[in-house]
Amino acid sequence: MKQRFKKHFERKPIEELMIEVGHEHEYSLKRVLSPFHLIMLGVGVIVGAGIFVLTGHVAAAYSGPAIVLSFVIAAIACGFAGLCYAEFASMISVSGSAYTYAYATLGKLFAWIIGWDLILEYLFGASSVAVGWSGYVCSFLKDFGIIIPASFSSAPFGYDVHTGWYLTGAIVNVPAILVIVVMTILLILGIKESATFNNIIVVIKVGVILLFIGFGIFFINFKNMVPFIPPNTGHFGEYGFSGILRGAGVIFFAYIGFDVVSTAAQEVKNPKRDMPIGILGSLAIVTVLYILVAFVITGLVSYTKLNVPDPIAVAIDAAGEHLFWLRPIVKIGAIAGLSSVVLLLLYGQSRIFFTMARDGMLPSVFARVHHNYRTPYITTIVVGVAAVIFSGLFPIGILGEMVSIGTLLAFVIVCIGVLVLRYTRPKLHRPFKTPWVPFVPIMGALVSFIQMVALPKDTWLRLLIWMFVGFIIYAIYGERHAHKRPAEDKEALLIQ
Ligand code: ALA
Repeated sequence: MKQRFKKHFERKPIEELMIEVGHEHEYSLKRVLSPFHLIMLGVGVIVGAGIFVLTGHVAAAYSGPAIVLSFVIAAIACGFAGLCYAEFASMISVSGSAYTYAYATLGKLFAWIIGWDLILEYLFGASSVAVGWSGYVCSFLKDFGIIIPASFSSAPFGYDVHTGWYLTGAIVNVPAILVIVVMTILLILGIKESATFNNIIVVIKVGVILLFIGFGIFFINFKNMVPFIPPNTGHFGEYGFSGILRGAGVIFFAYIGFDVVSTAAQEVKNPKRDMPIGILGSLAIVTVLYILVAFVITGLVSYTKLNVPDPIAVAIDAAGEHLFWLRPIVKIGAIAGLSSVVLLLLYGQSRIFFTMARDGMLPSVFARVHHNYRTPYITTIVVGVAAVIFSGLFPIGILGEMVSIGTLLAFVIVCIGVLVLRYTRPKLHRPFKTPWVPFVPIMGALVSFIQMVALPKDTWLRLLIWMFVGFIIYAIYGERHAHKRPAEDKEALLIQ
C-alpha cells in the first residue's frame, strides 16, 4: 500500500530528462528557433483577445482609467511566475513546460495534474481566442456590408449565472472553426513555416498597436481620466481599490502565453541561454505596450463607454475624423493578431501532449512524429478537433474563465516547484536562477492563488469537475502506463 502510494510521487530525474533531450535522432523535433524567434513567439501568443477585446470590459466594469494600474499589478504577478518559468526552462529544456517541471520536482501525480490542467490554458485558450477572432471578423465584414448571420457566427450554448445553461438558438460558430482548422494545418506542415507566419503577424499587430499609441496620444482628453480611480459603488470589485484588483485578475488573461515559449525548448538552438531571454523579453515588451494602450484608450474616451467587443475602434471613433483612417487598420491588426495567438496556443498544447505521450502518460500514438514534416501530427490533429468542438459550441466568457483558473493553478505549481527543487537539489546547474528566492517563488504562488480565489464559484466548480475527470483517466491509464524512457522506443515515434 505504502509502496503504491509512493509510486504517485516518483520523480523524473533531471539528468534523465536532459539525456532524453540530448538524444537526437531522425525522429526528433527540429532545432531551428533562435532568441529572436522566441521573443516573436512570446509576443505572438501573448498579444491577443486580452488587449483587443477585454480591455474595454475591464475599464468599464471594474477599474475605470485605473485599468493602467490593473495592468501593472497583473504584470508584476506574471513577472514573478515568469522568473520561475525561466529558471526551469533554462534548466529542463524539454517541450513539456510546467508538466515536465512538475514531474522533475513534485512527482508523477502532480505532473499528471498539471498536464491535465494545462489543457485548460492551451486548448481552451485557443478556443476562446478563436471565438474573439470570429467576433472581429464579423465586425470587419459588416463594415463592408457583408453580414454573417448570428446563427452561424455564435455559440449554440450560453450560460447565465442565475439560470444556468441555455440554448441560444444559434447553430455553430463557423468563423471560429475556420481559424482553428487553418492553424492546425499550418502546424502540421511544420514549425519553421509556422514561425515565419507568426513573425509576419507579430509585426502587423505590434505595428497596429504602435500606430494607435503614436497617433492616439495626441488626441487624449484628460477630462476622461478624472476621476482616475472612480469611487467604489459599495460592491467588491466595482471600481475603487477592489476594482483595480478584480480588474487585474480579469486582465491577467492578456498576459497568458509567455509560458508557451517554454514549450518550444526542444526546438531551440541554445535553450539554456535563449529560454530566459524569450520568456522575460516578451513579457517586458507586452507590459509596456499594454500600459500605453490602456492609457491612450481611457484618455480618448470615457471608460463608461468601453464595454464593447472592439474598444480600440470605439476609442478611435471618439477622436473624431482625425483618426478615422486607423479604424480598418486596427481591425485587420486584431484579426491577424488573434490568429497567431490561436496558432501558438494550439502549438503549445500539441507539444505538451507529445511530451506526456513520450512519458507514457498518454498513448504512444500522441508522440508520433511525421516522417517528412517532423511535427507531432497526430497529436496536432486531435488537439485541432477538440478546439473545433469547443470554439464552435461555447461562448468566450465560459472558455476564458476556465483558461484563467487553469493557468493560475499552473503558475502556483511551477512557483512551488522552483522552491522545492532549490531545497531538494541545491547543487543542480541552473543556467538561469530566479532572483530573491524564496521571496519571488512565494510571491508568485501567493499572488496567483489570490487571483484564483477572486474568480467566481462556478469557475471553481468546473475546475474541480475537470480535475476529477483527469484523476479518473490517470487512474485508468496514466498511472499504469507512465514509464521512464519510452522515447528510445523508436516504435513509438515511427509513423507507420
Ligand atoms: N494573452 C492571450 C490573449 O490576450 C491569451 O489573447
